[in-house]
Amino acid sequence: MSMIREVKEESKREMLKRISAHSHIRGLGLDEKGEPLFIADGLVGQLEARKAAGVVVKMIKEGKLAGRGILFVGPPGSGKTALAIAIARELGEDTPFVMINGAELYSSEIKKTEILMRAVRRAIGIRIREFRRVYEGVVKEIKFALASHPFNPYVKVPRGARITLATKDEEKTLEVDQAIATQLAQLGVRRGDLISIDADSGEVFKLGRVKGVEKAKYYDVETTRVLEEMPKGKIFKEKEIVRTVTLHDLDEAYAAQKRAVISLIGVGTEEKEIDPEIRRAVDESVKKALSEGKVTLVPGVLFIDDVHMLDIEAFSFLSRVMESEFSPILIMATNRGITKIRGTELEGPHGVPLDLLDRLLIITVRPYTTDEMREIILIRADEEEVKLSKDALELLVKIASERSLRYAIQLMQPARIIAEKKGRDEIRKEDVEEASKLFIDVSQSVELARKWEDKFLK
Ligand SMILES: Nc1ncnc2c1ncn2[C@@H]1O[C@H](COP(=O)(O)OP(=O)(O)OP(=O)(O)O)[C@@H](O)[C@H]1O
Ligand SMILES: [Mg+2]
Repeated sequence: MSMIREVKEESKREMLKRISAHSHIRGLGLDEKGEPLFIADGLVGQLEARKAAGVVVKMIKEGKLAGRGILFVGPPGSGKTALAIAIARELGEDTPFVMINGAELYSSEIKKTEILMRAVRRAIGIRIREFRRVYEGVVKEIKFALASHPFNPYVKVPRGARITLATKDEEKTLEVDQAIATQLAQLGVRRGDLISIDADSGEVFKLGRVKGVEKAKYYDVETTRVLEEMPKGKIFKEKEIVRTVTLHDLDEAYAAQKRAVISLIGVGTEEKEIDPEIRRAVDESVKKALSEGKVTLVPGVLFIDDVHMLDIEAFSFLSRVMESEFSPILIMATNRGITKIRGTELEGPHGVPLDLLDRLLIITVRPYTTDEMREIILIRADEEEVKLSKDALELLVKIASERSLRYAIQLMQPARIIAEKKGRDEIRKEDVEEASKLFIDVSQSVELARKWEDKFLK
């Protein structure tokens, strides 16, 4: 079990932050019965698809969907990506959700199947319950012993620390070594903080701040959780900790361990790919831990957007993965109709091979009505903090229905800047017009490319 340790992973929250075009989406906007409300959680309309997505969430939570998949199909800008993200939000922090775009597979450095394999393994969670021995209490006193930095004598680094922890019932003073002292310094631990130090690994966790500790300074705005009262109980204790790591975390941890051993004998290499042997060993120990009931499996979701970008090799890899014992729930999206399957001369619905398609539940999204587009534009305007005059809004709605919703949404920021230059904070119709002249949409750019075909580089 000792190979399991905490690894920094890109948390789901971080990932969701990256997808700023969908920052207004907080969930599927369903009522207790699973019925969609016309506008809720940042989503507008698209009712049948949202209801279906709600059923999907339920199946995922009940573990009924592992090894199967969902495909969102519909025209561009109809909310396929938005719905997949809404599903992620409904699932909560504990279910791994990994998002990749089909185009990401084509990197010159790493093989396609390795990129997919990594994504698959990041989408499988292992929930570990452990009893850890910890020192936990509120900091009453903290003193660092400083030493000069080995390379730069003008910089002082902690060599150790002496720290007094207290609860309602007990008080203990600890001498800690450099590794722990450094963490204490890095976390900025001060009087009044509630902390926990893992007795075996030496990891330090900041759990919050407790009010009313002598000589502690408090600020109006505290960044961590503030507790009104001192916690009770012993300082040195066994504590049950539940955490979810992914198979990929375990692969990495194991690979790092191996690398460390190998570099000891001086033949360290930088590896871009994880050795299949390592994955096999991780799988074996996870299976063992599962059968002993030490851990539980949390199948997460792998979302592959623009799935028509995958080629036949990637598709057959995915089919194989879906049949293996550790397989995540696959959610895919595409805006293609009948199109060529990459890497073949064959055409297929949505560019997906039939044998894979056969295993998927398909959810269709339809184009938006003008009223739905108006509501979506209003939500985005609110999210991006832009003020639209009535006629500016109507023009954007017109642009959305004649060109595309995404284009209309993208014009908002340029229009805001144009309005600002004229000393207004409200966007008027003429600002939208000007912005639409400065930035053309896709079909216009195709037109121009055709017109000036002979002038472009080939
Ligand atoms: N029903 C909706 N409610 C609120 N916002 C939406 C809705 N549908 C789409 N949006 C927003 O409109 C924009 C375009 O939608 P999205 O990117 O999800 O389209 P898509 O179907 O994935 O298109 P593509 O096929 O081009 O990838 C996004 O900013 C998205 O958040
Ligand atoms: Mg999309």
